[in-house]
Amino acid sequence: MNLSASPAGLPRPSSRLLSRFSSGSKLSLKHTGSKARGFFTKASRSGAISAISAILTISAVVVLALFLAASPLLAQPSHAAAPPKGALAPYDLRVEYLTNPLGVDTPQPRFFWKNRHSERGQSQTAFELIVSSSPSADTGDLWESGKTSGDSSIQIVYGGKPLASNRTYYWKVRIYDSDDKPSPWSEVARFDTGLLSPSDWKGQWIGSDGLLRHEFTLPEEPRRARAYISGLGYYELHLNGRRVGNHVLDPGWTDYKKRVLYATYDVTRLLRKGKNAIGVMLGQGWYKSRCLMFQLYIEDASGNVTEIHSDTSWQTARGPVLEDSIYNGETYDARLEQPGWDRPDFAAPAASAATAAGSWHQATAVEAPGGVLSSQMMPAIQVIETIVPLTMTNPAPGVYVFDLGQNLSGWAQLRVSGPAGTNVRLRFSELLYDNGMINQENLRSARAEDHYILRGDGTTEVWEPRFTYHGFRYIEVTGFPGTPRLDSVRGRVVHTAVSPTGNFSASTQILNDIQHLILWGQKTNLHSIPTDCCQRDERMGWMGDAQVTAEEAMMNFDMAAFYTNFLRNIRDEQAADGSITDTVPHIWGQRPADPAWGTAYPLIAWYMYQYYGDRRLIEDYYDSLKKYVEFLRSKSENGLLKYSYYGDWVAIEKCPGSLVSTFYYYYDTRVLADMARLINKPAEAQAYDKLAADIKAAFNREFFDPKTRSYGPTQTANALPLFIGLATDKERGPAWSELFNDLVYEHDSHLTTGIIGTKYILDVLTSTGNSDLAYDILTKTDFPSYGYMLKNGATTLWEIWQKREGPSMNSHNHPMFGSIGAWFYRALAGINIAPDSAAYKKLVIKPQMVRDLTHASGSINTINGEVGCAWSRGDRQVKLEAVIPVGSEAEIYIPVFKLRNLKLSEGGTVVFADNQLKTSLPGIKSIEQKGGNLIIRVGSGRYSFKLTGE
Ligand code: BGC
Repeated sequence: MNLSASPAGLPRPSSRLLSRFSSGSKLSLKHTGSKARGFFTKASRSGAISAISAILTISAVVVLALFLAASPLLAQPSHAAAPPKGALAPYDLRVEYLTNPLGVDTPQPRFFWKNRHSERGQSQTAFELIVSSSPSADTGDLWESGKTSGDSSIQIVYGGKPLASNRTYYWKVRIYDSDDKPSPWSEVARFDTGLLSPSDWKGQWIGSDGLLRHEFTLPEEPRRARAYISGLGYYELHLNGRRVGNHVLDPGWTDYKKRVLYATYDVTRLLRKGKNAIGVMLGQGWYKSRCLMFQLYIEDASGNVTEIHSDTSWQTARGPVLEDSIYNGETYDARLEQPGWDRPDFAAPAASAATAAGSWHQATAVEAPGGVLSSQMMPAIQVIETIVPLTMTNPAPGVYVFDLGQNLSGWAQLRVSGPAGTNVRLRFSELLYDNGMINQENLRSARAEDHYILRGDGTTEVWEPRFTYHGFRYIEVTGFPGTPRLDSVRGRVVHTAVSPTGNFSASTQILNDIQHLILWGQKTNLHSIPTDCCQRDERMGWMGDAQVTAEEAMMNFDMAAFYTNFLRNIRDEQAADGSITDTVPHIWGQRPADPAWGTAYPLIAWYMYQYYGDRRLIEDYYDSLKKYVEFLRSKSENGLLKYSYYGDWVAIEKCPGSLVSTFYYYYDTRVLADMARLINKPAEAQAYDKLAADIKAAFNREFFDPKTRSYGPTQTANALPLFIGLATDKERGPAWSELFNDLVYEHDSHLTTGIIGTKYILDVLTSTGNSDLAYDILTKTDFPSYGYMLKNGATTLWEIWQKREGPSMNSHNHPMFGSIGAWFYRALAGINIAPDSAAYKKLVIKPQMVRDLTHASGSINTINGEVGCAWSRGDRQVKLEAVIPVGSEAEIYIPVFKLRNLKLSEGGTVVFADNQLKTSLPGIKSIEQKGGNLIIRVGSGRYSFKLTGE
């Protein structure tokens, strides 16, 4: 009996698609890392899709190995030296979710670390944490926690003396394990405080034509220097001729009237005794104007402090950027550069000789944007990768079209030499016409066009824009002097630099290809806020899109700091009546938000607790979230929330908006009740439980039709109440039959859902024991399906199921259908947080070994450490490897299929046979056979199970 055989009569993924996707495994396309990692190798010219698939195919094969190797628990000592015993030093130390952050502006920051141990079944029972003003951190002159009992290594709130502005603090931690034995101390980590009080800001907001400069003299060599800067819309900071930091498109986008983010840089090494110069370039960004706030604190060895602030003594000039617009692009005239403008002793061109760049003159004070200055406590937008085009074609005279093989967000870097004044035009698109020319129709009014005007000094001029970005796969070059080469342009992938945390792969290639669409769609839509798309005249923080993708994002990437910032942006938009807005910052869409969009506020806050254990956020936001739910209540009529603008957006078969809105009214209310319970407000919890019960009754009265015995003729209408338990015993069976019939018989295992139904439907199928059907849906390749997008050349997710390429709404990089990525981890890799737990403390590892899938593996570098599960099955056997972090415990389910005379071994030792425990091994607490599974309860550690039978 082969446990992976596909049941007769059930569709297999199209072999044509699979063979197409697994071809070309020898391709050498390399997406290399950021600038720091050097440049790339030349790409293969073969089809982009097969190149990408080749990477996926290879990664599918090696992912298990990578996952095992990446786990600190599994790290093998490289030499014969005895591996350390007991609790190892805590690692991955964070403050407010960030590694050695600068500019922490929370008076009581929180600490995080991860633990490892040489033994299984271990946990932390106490910790000792020291915060010191000295880098040796030998004594905690700020805080010594003492030996503090507790099994948590996350969200540990600072409890020491008040922190001062603009200081560097050092910290370290050690833990005590289950046997009360201490670990070694961690390495010393550090954090810098930002400006904690508004009165710390002494600079003035000054306006600019493009460039700003200021010179100053330092009497001594600096010992410590920090720059605090916010430049709207975007800034680029230079000191003494060097660019500071690697942020681009900084600061993050906020409602500037409410809040403006500033960045902090350690600039100690860029300054020197004597003359120094500051240079700042400003772009318009979302502010649509240019202004700067800047402060520099410099301390010398004897403790003398020099402060520099932006004021009207600064000089400004126009500079080489002639035009910059996020949507339309940037025009840069290199003839207008003024070499040395950002260095001391710059001799500004005499007024008469001043070119079109304009002469230097004093900056003027401008009205402040209005918002409070807050530290940007999240990863910045950065250039993440550089990609060499796969092909260059010449579809018309003088027109060159480059194909990067991947839809992405960012821009192109141009290399060119030629006569001064030559205007090279770069245009960007996601699509091509049949004749090979770029198709920009779906960008609507975004011109997506950069111009570079050559200096013409005989060198190779390398240029990339600063103050715009595009969403594209193709680059059209015109006006190029001579014939460009394949590497005359390179794609620069630009997005918020969230670290990847997840790995998923499976034996069915199309699932890996879908995962590729999800990952690229997700990351290229993180631009300090979660955007709907990155190409057309939109790029908004649409809340519906944000909420459906948030869980998938939290598995694939480290989103904690990013969403912390986004939630604050949402709160900033809240009106006195509790209402919030469709987009955040609010530019497009309505107030009040469609309830399926507004739900981003309570749901993402709750996910922050579920995935990162962020209880403090719930405490801080509870009142505001309650106000939001009360706003919904004020709009409800007899328990129903009827208003809706988008509902199950972009569905093929649309369910009533009032059903979707009432579903979220119920969901938000329940989440609020859970929050109240969490933060010890039992009376409020009870009150919102009661409200939820009333909504539930109203929902069933209104939407369940006793005649048709369903919630309506669409998949979403039945999936939503089944997902959240709105359906009672009475409605559940009929609603499920309707959903099943619709999926299987009416639509041959295709979804007709929009972004709302899609988010929940696979979970409904798994919870009702129908993961096979979910798999059938995901392996379809005809319309409408993910495979259909792939078959039609998608490299990121489309906005709609239909293949459209005209001026109508059809973005080819819209992450919202990527919500199903969470199902890959939860169902196929089996990684679930237990319902009564958070932050992966208690796990249920329950992989769905569906249809012909022979293996799947997933790992998530969670806030508490690496969690992983990799399984495979073959002839009368199932193997499962699991990694559980120190301090976590798991219930692992291994399906026994129809096997009899079961034997389970772990690491080669038989632990269960003849229906009883045979050997007790460290970490394994119990094993029982129940409901078609072996259920193994384990503590932390790595486990390698093999189940065999007859
Ligand atoms: C956006 C969507 C958004 C929607 C609201 C569109 O224009 O691109 O993703 O959620 O409007 O219905």
